[in-house]
Amino acid sequence: MKVWHVSPTNPTPEQLEDPAAALQVGKLVAFPTETVYGLGANALDEAAVRRIFRVKGRPADNPLIVHIASIEDLALVTPHPDAIPAAATRAMAAFWPGPLTIVLPASPRLAPSVHPGMETVGVRMPAHPVAQMLIGLAGCPIAAPSANRSGRPSPTCAGDVAEDLADYLDADEGVVDGGSCEVGVESTVIAVTEEEVVIYRPGGVSREELERELGIPVRLDPHLQLDHVQAHADSHLARAQRIPNQSPDATEAANSDLLEAEYQGQELQAPPSPGMKYRHYAPKATVIVWWGDPARVRKAMREFALANATSPIAIIGRTPWPSCPANAVCWTAAEAHEPYAATLSRELYRLLRDFDRQGVAHILVEGVELEGLGLAVMNRLSKASEGRIFHV
Ligand code: TXA
Ligand code: MG
Repeated sequence: MKVWHVSPTNPTPEQLEDPAAALQVGKLVAFPTETVYGLGANALDEAAVRRIFRVKGRPADNPLIVHIASIEDLALVTPHPDAIPAAATRAMAAFWPGPLTIVLPASPRLAPSVHPGMETVGVRMPAHPVAQMLIGLAGCPIAAPSANRSGRPSPTCAGDVAEDLADYLDADEGVVDGGSCEVGVESTVIAVTEEEVVIYRPGGVSREELERELGIPVRLDPHLQLDHVQAHADSHLARAQRIPNQSPDATEAANSDLLEAEYQGQELQAPPSPGMKYRHYAPKATVIVWWGDPARVRKAMREFALANATSPIAIIGRTPWPSCPANAVCWTAAEAHEPYAATLSRELYRLLRDFDRQGVAHILVEGVELEGLGLAVMNRLSKASEGRIFHV
């Protein structure tokens, strides 16, 4: 695979000529966006789009997001750009270019595999200057899922892409290296009607921002595990506090008990966004999340580290530990002059990958409140931890 180096802030057409030409002839090119790196292909070329699924090892029923560089390009991806809901147009005006994907009726010109078995397509206009210039030079809409092997944490730098995909990409394919991604979690995926917005995946644009700009109710799709995390926190606080952090298995069993209690009596239809049902963002180590009162979070982590004294552990937390447990490495966000959710969002996938390379057995994460970017971060943590999230 190739690596094309470009300036993250001021790319030149010369730097992007070669990867744009590769996209035009049906090759795959990974590129930076403000959220995560995407694995791009011409969205009008069925063979190229199918190749994305092979290279990622992606389930064939999981649709891809199509990236455009200008509003004029909407006509290439949706059949009646003038007939979309007014609230969707307002969302584009307010948040594009940026980390928002809007589900729209799909144009028959798109490669069928972009939206397998669905009449809709997720569309996004990324804000990253490298992504914008690359899409513009390629001259076609670009289908791009995150550029990781399926199930792995999304890549936030070119090295992460190479780590996952070097063995799968051809010699004339590759990654445009445009530095590290700013946001660090993927775009928010929404469906919009005149009356309401439904969030299929929380991401770089928050629920609160959507509500403020669009002036209509914004609700979370019930398939998002976060509903359950919140309900679980509210109704099982006392019980969750008593969970002995002896081993991940015991923790897991206790937690799945709690989650099952939440699901009782709920008949959920198939998820409207197929990505919701897959295991995602998972490193090889077990991930366990505690959130709530900082002192209790730390106590739970310390007890876990003590009870697993022979295992190498990594801890991701909000503020520095006066003394990190002997078998642990402690990473904290304290130096960053921004909210914890923003730092965690930007650093989470990189940390999960780094700690995997270091061979730790367990990654303990201090979670965040379910608001702003915190909702997206906790959604990813819920999946990475396979539901091992405890409110204390
Ligand atoms: O930030 C991002 O969105 C990144 C960058 C590269 O743009 N892309 C990304 O793509 O995260 P991917 O394929 O990893 O995630 C796409 C998500 C999936 O959960 C999928 O189910 C959902 O979007 N999706 C795509 N098209 C959809 C549609 N027509 N209806 C419902 N959900 C859709
Ligand atoms: Mg992905």
